[in-house]
Amino acid sequence: MHLTAFFVFAFLFIQDCLAKPLARVVPLQDGMPDPSPSQLLEIEQRAHGTLSNMLPPANISKAGITNLQLIAFNELFEVAFFKQLLANITNEVEGFFLSEDDDRDFIVDSLSTILAQEEIHALTANNALKHVMTAQVLPCNYSFPVTSITNAIDFASTFTSVMLGTLQDITEISARNGDSALTRVVAAIIGNQGEQQGWYRVFMGKVPSETPMLTTSAREFGFSYVEQFVLPGSCPNASSIPLRAFLPLTIVEFPGPMTQDIVVTWELPDMDTARKLRYAKGKDGQFWLVYINQLNLPIVERLRFIGFDGTTVLAKARFPYEEHLLNGLTIAAVTNSSGPFANANAVAASTLYGPGVIIVN
Ligand SMILES: *[C@@H]1O[C@H](CO)[C@@H](O)[C@H](O)[C@H]1NC(C)=O
Ligand SMILES: *[C@@H]1O[C@H](CO)[C@@H](O)[C@H](O)[C@H]1NC(C)=O
Ligand SMILES: *[C@@H]1O[C@H](CO)[C@@H](O)[C@H](O)[C@H]1NC(C)=O
Ligand SMILES: *[C@@H]1O[C@H](CO)[C@@H](O)[C@H](O)[C@H]1NC(C)=O
Ligand SMILES: *[C@@H]1O[C@H](CO)[C@@H](O)[C@H](O)[C@H]1NC(C)=O
Repeated sequence: MHLTAFFVFAFLFIQDCLAKPLARVVPLQDGMPDPSPSQLLEIEQRAHGTLSNMLPPANISKAGITNLQLIAFNELFEVAFFKQLLANITNEVEGFFLSEDDDRDFIVDSLSTILAQEEIHALTANNALKHVMTAQVLPCNYSFPVTSITNAIDFASTFTSVMLGTLQDITEISARNGDSALTRVVAAIIGNQGEQQGWYRVFMGKVPSETPMLTTSAREFGFSYVEQFVLPGSCPNASSIPLRAFLPLTIVEFPGPMTQDIVVTWELPDMDTARKLRYAKGKDGQFWLVYINQLNLPIVERLRFIGFDGTTVLAKARFPYEEHLLNGLTIAAVTNSSGPFANANAVAASTLYGPGVIIVN
């Protein structure tokens, strides 16, 4: 095995032992996803606003149903996250202690508002589903990869970026399928999440607005991303959402704002696939790492294998920051085609592993 590969495997092993959070059951509060009228009133007060009292559309396309299911699935994940984060802060769990000097009251107030706003978003999507006689999406149990307030806000910023990209895809699919009645509500949610994002970024010492054109995504990437944090077997509805979930891709070394190689790793589904891949290692043209950034054509880079360990693969590829000014969110995917890809959806159609999520600046 290559020496770097050895160190990276050692690193991954240690990281795995240290960072894997305990599986925790996160029951939702406020009667979610079915609050009583008085519970809804309390949610609205904390959200600083109401669930829309306009009727959802009477007819929604099949693709539009999937859009709503994905929004509900993602929003319920966010609800569980912010609920747990607030509990960690108020219970002063190690890593989550904030003093008055840290602006504790403002942070708790902001997070409570965000939590309630996410509840309203989840209810909006589920109500639209129920309005067209489709079963609503129920929450799952999740495991969040965070151990401190700092990495919790970083994680919130990351999943919000992915969500903001995915909502672009949802808007276009709605438009294409005669669901114009849903585009306004999606736009209202996008704006709200963008406001949240500005605060997370300032919290991390970044400028509030990320890039002039927020990175786009495809529904499958948004779905696969959240699936990684769902406890296996805990999701009543994930399998009824007709979207492909890719096998995960992990970025081992995050790039900074410069052109450099990055190392990625993924788990092959079985030993047989691993043996074949190891055998084919010398041959070119097996896999590529494709980057989606801002509203530009996807960038294709050749993957070079640097190590195999059982079913774990380590590979590296160039991250061409300087040529493309790859700021903000970049979605990386391992594909079995070199493209060229016209857009994020074309990348998703050839994706085997992903999304790897990178945020620079
Ligand atoms: C998920 O959480 C619920 C309670 O919120 C619990 O009843 C159930 O056993 C949990 N399932 C898993 C797979 O952890
Ligand atoms: C829903 O009905 C409206 C009005 O009849 C129509 O314009 C629209 O195309 C329909 N949308 C779908 C998704 O069927
Ligand atoms: C809450 O704290 C626990 C214990 O450190 C941690 O495992 C979990 O990921 C944290 N969750 C959030 C959302 O902060
Ligand atoms: C979600 O799961 C619940 C419980 O199994 C079920 O009643 C409901 O029909 C499911 N919803 C969808 C959209 O599949
Ligand atoms: C490439 O991957 C896609 C998505 O998994 C799959 O549909 C397609 O058949 C694969 N193509 C080849 C040539 O393996």
